[in-house]
Amino acid sequence: MRIALGVTGCIAAYKSVEVLRGLQKRGASVTVVMTRHATEFVGPLTFQSISGFPVITEMFAPTHDPEIKHIQLAQSSDLLLVAPATANALAKFANGIADDFLSTLYISSTCPVLVAPAMNSEMWAHPATSENVRRLRERGVQFVDPEEGYLACKTVGAGRLAEPDTIVRRACEIIGLANGSNVAGDSCTRPADMSGERVLITAGPTQEAIDPVRFLSNRSSGKMGYALAEAAVERGAVVTLITGPVSIAPPKGARTIAVRSAAEMFNAVKDNLADSTLIVMAAAVADYRPADVHRQKMKKNGRAMVLDLEQTEDILASVARDIHEKASRIVVGFAAETESVIPNARKKLVEKHADLIVANDVSASDSGFDVDTNRIALVSSEGVTELPLLSKREAAEHIIDAALEIRRSRPLSTP
Ligand code: PMT
Repeated sequence: MRIALGVTGCIAAYKSVEVLRGLQKRGASVTVVMTRHATEFVGPLTFQSISGFPVITEMFAPTHDPEIKHIQLAQSSDLLLVAPATANALAKFANGIADDFLSTLYISSTCPVLVAPAMNSEMWAHPATSENVRRLRERGVQFVDPEEGYLACKTVGAGRLAEPDTIVRRACEIIGLANGSNVAGDSCTRPADMSGERVLITAGPTQEAIDPVRFLSNRSSGKMGYALAEAAVERGAVVTLITGPVSIAPPKGARTIAVRSAAEMFNAVKDNLADSTLIVMAAAVADYRPADVHRQKMKKNGRAMVLDLEQTEDILASVARDIHEKASRIVVGFAAETESVIPNARKKLVEKHADLIVANDVSASDSGFDVDTNRIALVSSEGVTELPLLSKREAAEHIIDAALEIRRSRPLSTP
């Protein structure tokens, strides 16, 4: 099945990368068409390297004949999916304006069209947009309506792009591709390339008690570790997730063990290590904890307070050192860095005896702690692979791919 995936210019454009991968995993061949504004949000190279096809960004690129190219693509596609679709794109489609490649492709397409809008809630509620949507629906265009949620404009309301999985599922339903109606995780359509793997993942922050009501902690939301757990479950692994205190829902299909402190996390990891074949430590574990935990709530006394801190156990280093003495299991650690990201990650690769370090630049507002996206580089003894800004789920797939690559080069031995 061939799908033309239109990407228009809004912040949700990065989620189209996940849509692309989801479609590919179900066996679709996808050609990506980006509007000029979309390229401001995500580089065409990202889509090109994942889709394996050149990305169409311009009507009059010197490399192709526009007259033929958009007609060719319209005729050879089984579905035109536009995700995200801005208010501007909807207006053009509804009014037959054909002033760039995507709008021209739309007007020349006879295949089903599926549109997933994303915009500010006022724009979505505007009568002009409602009218455009109504006209498009009347003409047979199908919609994956936007969801309610926190929007890039820092307001809450309807307008957020539907989840990539929802969009992929609808696309699959329309073209009858590989059981797209199998909602609950699409396990029969995703590659079960982790079947036989038992994965131990740490996620979230730890909390180190100062007294009964206060603690030291950090901004980890657990999203990265949970995305890893979800991805591994969907790829057929048996997953144990050891998580610090977070407020997100536990991933379906994983055994989840809740802990609070670094010491509790260390014990839980040791207890569940025995038969794991892949260990991924995404948790932001406290490096220090108060040397004494006060039994009663501490009172202020008008003077400065000094807290005596002691170092916590380095779970990753300890586990990886022991494992490498015994068996060839794969150990993946993270390196959350604000400077010298790659050199520091290389250092941690060696010092912590890991097979792979996910170097995580946490200095940017769209990467690292408590956001949905991440910018990572995969650092191993084989070299460094830098990845563009991705959703955490997409980053998780890359991390697993890299770990499995190491797995392939090192046969699984019984622990
Ligand atoms: O949870 P999110 O909001 O989604 O944010 C994701 C993240 C930024 C927390 C995640 O992507 C990440 O970078 N996790 C590692 C955070 C961290 O503590 O990095 P570090 O460089 O301090 O630690 C290096 C490695 O050692 C990590 O794998 C860590 O789990 C491990 N470690 C650290 C200290 C310790 N005492 N024991 C450990 O095992």
